[in-house]
Amino acid sequence: MGEENANKFFSGMNIMITAGPTREAIDPVRYISNHSSGKMGYAIAYAASQLGAKVTLVSGPVNIPPPEQVEVESVVSAQEMYDAVMGDIASQDIFIACAAVADYRVDNASDQKMKKNKDQGLTLSFTQNPDILKSVAALENAPFTVGFAAETQDVVQYAKSKLERKKLNMIAANDVSKPGLGFNSDKNALIVITPNTKFDLVQASKDSLALSLLKLVEQEYKATQK
Ligand code: CTP
Ligand code: CA
Repeated sequence: MGEENANKFFSGMNIMITAGPTREAIDPVRYISNHSSGKMGYAIAYAASQLGAKVTLVSGPVNIPPPEQVEVESVVSAQEMYDAVMGDIASQDIFIACAAVADYRVDNASDQKMKKNKDQGLTLSFTQNPDILKSVAALENAPFTVGFAAETQDVVQYAKSKLERKKLNMIAANDVSKPGLGFNSDKNALIVITPNTKFDLVQASKDSLALSLLKLVEQEYKATQK
């Protein structure tokens, strides 16, 4: 193996990454969403392609140009993201769920712009969206699955329970209550948890964290192949 290829552990592998928020329509002009910028997912997609992977990035609406050499599949709602992921998951070696998927969608979204009702409030009802990550991990030939957990309290405890509940190989947790980290920031810090170990990736740029995270993915992926 040449020097260049030696550093490209993911050569010949397919990696799918979800990124960004999803939008859940209320009517044709309004939606419910969240503050995810997509930066972490896009940084991981770029780093994975630099490390030789063929990357498919299933992305909610974000303001980031698509990374070079990465195939971007743009989606809007959680259901669309689910369909895009499931449609192409069979060929993937690794799945990294970075997206901030809306847990709920609005029941009976109106196909016409809603009009306000004089002096009256508005009550919306919601249905739970499918859990994309959990569905991937439950597949018979599941790829190596990595989840993210953005938490505001009891970060490690909540992340661990997600790792177990969703039967993941790895989860990267971040404390979004810390000012300047996480959502919309260029920096982050991650606690990476596997069924047997825990690694601290201290505060750094999302680009540098993406590389550190992929190093851990490489290490753990190799361990599962033994
Ligand atoms: N996730 C997903 N599909 C969903 C919800 C979440 O793929 N419908 C993924 C996220 O991309 C993330 C992980 O699951 O990798 C954890 O998301 P999070 O919102 O922290 O967990 P939930 O299981 O939704 O639990 P809660 O929001 O109640 O904390
Ligand atoms: Ca959630």
